Amino acid sequence: MRSNAFHLAWFLQGSSVQAWGERWTGNISEEWMVPDLFLELARSMDRACFDYMLLEDTSYVGEAYGNSRDIYLKYGMSVPRQDPSVVASLMIAATSRLGIVPTLATYSYPPYLVARLLGTLDQVSLGRAGWNMVTGSSDFVAMNFGRDRLPEHDTRYDMADEYIDIVTRLWDSWEPDSMIADRESGILIDPKKVHAINYEGKYYSCRGPLNSGPLPQGRAVIAQAGGSPRGRRFAAQHADTVVAHVKGVDAMKAYRDDIRRMMRELGRDPSTCKVLYLIAPILADTEEEARNRAAQRAAAAGRNLDVRLAQLAKITNIDFSSFDLDAPVGELTTNGHQQSLAEFLRKAGKRTLREAITDYTSSGLSVDLVGTPESVAAQMGEVMEEVGGDGFLFSLPNVSRRTIAEVTDGLVPALQQRGLTRKSYAHKQFRDNLLEF
Ligand SMILES: Cc1cc2nc3c(=O)[nH]c(=O)nc-3n(C[C@H](O)[C@H](O)[C@H](O)COP(=O)(O)O)c2cc1C
Repeated sequence: MRSNAFHLAWFLQGSSVQAWGERWTGNISEEWMVPDLFLELARSMDRACFDYMLLEDTSYVGEAYGNSRDIYLKYGMSVPRQDPSVVASLMIAATSRLGIVPTLATYSYPPYLVARLLGTLDQVSLGRAGWNMVTGSSDFVAMNFGRDRLPEHDTRYDMADEYIDIVTRLWDSWEPDSMIADRESGILIDPKKVHAINYEGKYYSCRGPLNSGPLPQGRAVIAQAGGSPRGRRFAAQHADTVVAHVKGVDAMKAYRDDIRRMMRELGRDPSTCKVLYLIAPILADTEEEARNRAAQRAAAAGRNLDVRLAQLAKITNIDFSSFDLDAPVGELTTNGHQQSLAEFLRKAGKRTLREAITDYTSSGLSVDLVGTPESVAAQMGEVMEEVGGDGFLFSLPNVSRRTIAEVTDGLVPALQQRGLTRKSYAHKQFRDNLLEF
């Protein structure tokens, strides 16, 4: 691989109806329950040698906008959502090298269950399981799990520190050579190599050991997306890969530098965590056609301000339906996604809410990429060169067989020809491929 090679991943907006109302989506509203499209996407990514597929998830129906579920249900915003671990196992069966990263939230699964579920996924995939580690951001989700509200933002990360400690100790509760399988003595497992963890924390406790056995990777790959100061510290401590939610080359570079600095402070080698940035390239046969498509997309966005405000409301818990669209956005705070709100406010500046929301994308795209596969591949190379690494995560608002092919069969070969992304996997296991360069 060339020294400036980078990683690719995909951020799939849940196991759900994708791109409702968009063209080229076939009969997705009837066929979404059986995840053929997602499996085709996973197979295409495997062929294009992506590092991983991240399956976004939340387990509640949005209600923050206008104190109502209406807009979220009407326009299929983050709903319906299937449990990602089921779809993750189907994706594992459909692929050979791709890392599969379901989102499993600390508020909805006890740590033992997460350790066991991911341990099992790692086993059945022979070392390709990952975990998008999220702490939750809405009180509506807390109410689905028997609580009135979520704990305060930073406390959630303190709890997650403990949670992840339990999960990793459970994964470590089987020494790698604990399965002897000695036919002569008749002993399958060496009891001296399987240990209780006897964890008594402030928030969680767990006895252990795990009953599902050792993981091929030892530990599943850990992904993390929270970008507040506390979120970044958490990532620097635990993550193998970070989904950065920032716009522009300078902010991208600063984010990565920050994570790497904190990793050094914590005694970790910064090259062991890969920071990936969200993109949604608009690709076409000619530059002109691509620009036309981008203009159409921008025009459609301008007509959908309510939907955009509802998206921002969902992740910040701020009810924008009661705000004056023509007044400056002003100062806002949240117990939800702090980094996403900070990024929105930074870009809004002194503009009105109407102006700011018009060019807001909830997916937090890092750079705008519009052009032919060749020109976009060149732009991606230049951006990565400036940022210093480590790759991109596709987050398309219009996932369809057409847009998947544009990326995996149009853009990726153009990247490969430039030596910017891999043409074959060097390893069988997810983390080994992630750390290859
Ligand atoms: C790109 C991106 C993807 C995320 N995916 C999920 C998800 O699938 N499920 C979830 O509950 N939270 C998700 N989150 C929320 C984060 O895990 C985190 O809770 C949130 O960003 C707040 O963290 P912060 O305040 O530290 O920025 C995502 C955030 C970002 C930026």
